[in-house]
Amino acid sequence: MCGIVGYTGHRPAIPVAFEGLEHLEYRGYDSAGIGYGFQNKLEVVRSAGKLKNLSEKISHSTTALTVTCAIGHTRWATHGVPEERNAHPHISNDKSLILVHNGIIENYLEIKENLVRKGYTFHSDTDTEVLVNLIAEERKNQPDLLHALRIALQKAHGAYAICLLERENPEILYAARMAAPLIFGIGIGENFVASDIPAFLSYTRNVVFLEDGEILVADANSYSVYRSDDLACVQKQEQCIQWSMQAAQKGGFRHFMLKEIFEQPQVIKDGLTGRIREWQGVVLPELDNLTIPRRLHIVACGTSYHAGLWSSHLFESWARIPVQIEIASEFRYKERFLLDPAEDLVLVISQSGETADTLAALRIAREQGVTTVGICNVVGSSIAREADVVLYTQAGPEISVASTKAMTSQMTMLACLAIYYGERKQVLEEGREEKILRALADLPKRLEEALPVMHTEAKRLSRKYAQAKSFFYLGRGHCFALALEGALKLKELSYIHAEGYAAGEMKHGPIALIDPNFPSFVIALNDRLYPKVKSNIVEIQARQGHIIVLTDFNVDIKVDDIWQIPSGMGALGAFFVLPCLQFFSYEVADYLGKDVDQPRNLAKSVTVE
Ligand code: F6R
Repeated sequence: MCGIVGYTGHRPAIPVAFEGLEHLEYRGYDSAGIGYGFQNKLEVVRSAGKLKNLSEKISHSTTALTVTCAIGHTRWATHGVPEERNAHPHISNDKSLILVHNGIIENYLEIKENLVRKGYTFHSDTDTEVLVNLIAEERKNQPDLLHALRIALQKAHGAYAICLLERENPEILYAARMAAPLIFGIGIGENFVASDIPAFLSYTRNVVFLEDGEILVADANSYSVYRSDDLACVQKQEQCIQWSMQAAQKGGFRHFMLKEIFEQPQVIKDGLTGRIREWQGVVLPELDNLTIPRRLHIVACGTSYHAGLWSSHLFESWARIPVQIEIASEFRYKERFLLDPAEDLVLVISQSGETADTLAALRIAREQGVTTVGICNVVGSSIAREADVVLYTQAGPEISVASTKAMTSQMTMLACLAIYYGERKQVLEEGREEKILRALADLPKRLEEALPVMHTEAKRLSRKYAQAKSFFYLGRGHCFALALEGALKLKELSYIHAEGYAAGEMKHGPIALIDPNFPSFVIALNDRLYPKVKSNIVEIQARQGHIIVLTDFNVDIKVDDIWQIPSGMGALGAFFVLPCLQFFSYEVADYLGKDVDQPRNLAKSVTVE
């Protein structure tokens, strides 16, 4: 999603803002721009495409080193094609304001009509240009920009994080948020605003998380936060970020994605630290005061949804808790009476903690009086702050747009949660809990040893299958969730069409697609479902379909490629399956010359509906 940066201080602001944008590139974007005040005028430099296009334009500007306050933006198109005229910042008709915006103003057409009637003209297709003119219009009747902003934001409905500059005082940053992330960074003699912390982490670790309905006004040496409905001052708590810039850099790897795949053993280790009571249980004090739910609703999107789907097998088998798992964009529009505050618990899973649909689902559950637990990676994110209880996954910053280590960290936390409930309900059989805990604790070391071998095999297979136009990913039981994830990874990274299916569903229609050019990637682990999976493999082979089998034992079947991996205990085998799926997609995409860390059309944090 769009990235916002704002800087006011003592340094040349344009390079600082540009650097901030580079650190937000991972969020996904298709155009970019920077704006600043210079000699009593507001200037904007914008370009379509990657930041290097913007950089070329900026290098022609002689003002670059003299300006000490600037705002910048990377745009992920929602309204209007990714062209320069739609890129941010947008400037008001009277050239008094420039604005960058992340989110969607839902009633922008209505506002635009009113402004057109008043004589305003528009040069882009964006809701942002409407908003900047609305603020400029309100400014005519207000004593200062803060008051104008308050009135304008009351009229604009939707989600936004914004940052703006006024021609009269171009050293002052104004910013506001409603359902989109915005963080304030506090330096010495300089201050920052950004959509995410890496944008300014090289300069300061001290931050304030802005809340929905707050407006920030900051110059180089001071700041104030106001409630947007009545402009009352809000006392904010400053926080210190613990992770470093190094954690957000490639560290010698070709891509962030590769680095993040290789970080997974450490991620499991960090996720388990302080959580396992050797070998008798799991420590989750965050949940000790909550009752055990009779029914669990797991709600998430994309890869996080797949982690949730995988964990439903654990909750049902280890904790005997029935699970309803739903995609957040579906859950949020369902009939509310299905939730029972006395018996249900809504568990939302989100790496970013900002995904609009997941956040909306969480809010609906809260409105219904249902207890909510959020599993999040980003500390201080909206979901983390709004859930009744947050369980942090501690995966560190995930920069690659395609999620990898975040899923592993979510699975680690979900496994702990299932054991925790199993223990509290006393439904885990004698000795089983210890076995699971030991198996979990052994994972980091075993995975660390296995990853290089997996990577080599993924590279070999990627060369063989990269020309395929379509792929099936098949699995049963907990491996169905992994099949969905494998297909998602392949399509988002390599743009090869891939479908994840429950292997048993093939005969109900999809098998019609099988021919020698439509390979299947089958996850066939050594469990009670293997005989069934084997039958599905044979059915595909009968239609001349080529097959890769990913397995943890010596399968009694002849297929095109057998990819042997270490075995985990039951569903914990997923921790070995997942990196293979990630490596395979990574290698196919890289071999085909795709932009691995920033696939086309995608954004890291999906803050629009
Ligand atoms: C896929 C991917 C997405 C995210 C989804 C949810 O690689 O990254 O499918 O998993 O957008 O994001 P979070 O977990 O931040 O809510």
